[in-house]
Amino acid sequence: MTKLMAGMIGLGVMGRNLALNMADSGCQMVVFDTDRQSVERAVAESAHDGQPRFRPVSDLVEMLAALPSPRIIFLSVPAGSIVDQLCDDLLRAGADKHDIVIDTGNSLWTDSVARAQHYEGRLNFFTTAVSGGEMGARTGPSLMASGDFGSWQRVAPVLHGIAARVDDQGRQVPRLPGQATVAGESCATWTGPAGTGHYVKMVHNGIEYADMQLICEAYSQLRFGLGLSMDAVAETFERWNEGPLNSYLMEITAEVLRQLDPDSGVPLVDVILDSAGQKGTGMWTAVSSLELGCPAPSLAGAVFARSLSARKSQRLEAARLLQGPADKTGPVPTVSELEDALYCGKICAYAQGFDLMLTQARQQGWTLDLAAIARVWRAGCIIRAVFLNRIAAAFEADQELAHLLLDADFSAEIALRQKGWRQTVASAALNGIPASGLSASLAYYDGFRAGVLPANLLQAQRDYFGAHGFRRVDEPLGEYHLEWHATPRSLTRRH
Ligand code: 6PG
Repeated sequence: MTKLMAGMIGLGVMGRNLALNMADSGCQMVVFDTDRQSVERAVAESAHDGQPRFRPVSDLVEMLAALPSPRIIFLSVPAGSIVDQLCDDLLRAGADKHDIVIDTGNSLWTDSVARAQHYEGRLNFFTTAVSGGEMGARTGPSLMASGDFGSWQRVAPVLHGIAARVDDQGRQVPRLPGQATVAGESCATWTGPAGTGHYVKMVHNGIEYADMQLICEAYSQLRFGLGLSMDAVAETFERWNEGPLNSYLMEITAEVLRQLDPDSGVPLVDVILDSAGQKGTGMWTAVSSLELGCPAPSLAGAVFARSLSARKSQRLEAARLLQGPADKTGPVPTVSELEDALYCGKICAYAQGFDLMLTQARQQGWTLDLAAIARVWRAGCIIRAVFLNRIAAAFEADQELAHLLLDADFSAEIALRQKGWRQTVASAALNGIPASGLSASLAYYDGFRAGVLPANLLQAQRDYFGAHGFRRVDEPLGEYHLEWHATPRSLTRRH
């Protein structure tokens, strides 16, 4: 069997680690970066038994000459115009329509659609969204590939070789740097035509924002509502991580909470400025939900929560001026009620993410396999969680499932746990503890399950001031308008 061979352009943290992972899984790597130090570091790290496994090249012409045709070339560069620039440079250097150029960055999905069209017939522009950060890239990321199916068939052996793996129980199979591919189901999948992989990854990040926000709110309630010590909070997260909440984010939260500041010796979290950063993928998800008219308040709210946190000086001023509840001795949730709240909030956030993917798929004419997406998120990625096995099972069992909350098992479980969720949100409100994620999720749940909403009044208001019309419950197909300003007021049927 001929050895797989691929190129990697961009040897920053992600590119270097992906290339090392590819070398571990038996792929011969030709690497390039404009920064000499990055090349030297990567080549040195690739050494095995004193022999570098990477072959560095000094320009793109040399890279193309070093790779067998049709070539497989990965790009690991920041999202944006540099991706276009590199594709153009590769074409100028001699790349042709048989070559596959794979963008592994966090690109905006519409850019990926546009690029695939732009380069059609000149090169195979393909994308593979990568989740898992530095460690994931090195020993097993979750990979969401998209582009034409023929290209997928050619790059799949490389991607399956480096992807995270899950065992029969749906748990990640550990793998060490330097170790070749381990057994288990691969967490790489082809999601469909260009753009789908980056859309799926974008939603992954939207869910990641919501999940992190919910965890932070649970921490805040444990620490400041229940008054637990940092160690006790960490212990609680460790215990929760042994149950249905088991996930990477829960696991790292416990570890982070136990970390002391090497300088002062106090918990590190207490010396970190409470002002969150963001690179934009959560915002893209929120924008997409607004554009689609697909409600994802837990995801969008998590972006707002980060933005609010970043207004540190204004918040400090407001903290002096704005009053909270006079009596801060309102009821506090129990630890187990909080666990239920966190679980329900998370399921709602994931449900919103899957709803977004389904809605966008309908809009774009994509066929997204939601069960397969849930399966590749079970390992390698940041939102990997044990309940993704159940999410995958739900979409597998009912391929027409229109919304995760309509799945019988999840709906029954939320029904059982909702009391703790409601207690937690009520307690946060009464005690003035911010809990935008938990309450947005609960409001979403209550709105979603409401057979009747006050949108009838809203429609009447719109018709009153803007003659926007309304439909009637007794005749939903016709549109009506009331002449609100005429005497007598009269009803007309528009169509
Ligand atoms: C991943 C992460 C990764 C990253 C983003 C989000 O799946 O590996 O989602 O893509 O953490 O860069 O970063 P921000 O929190 O800065 O937006």
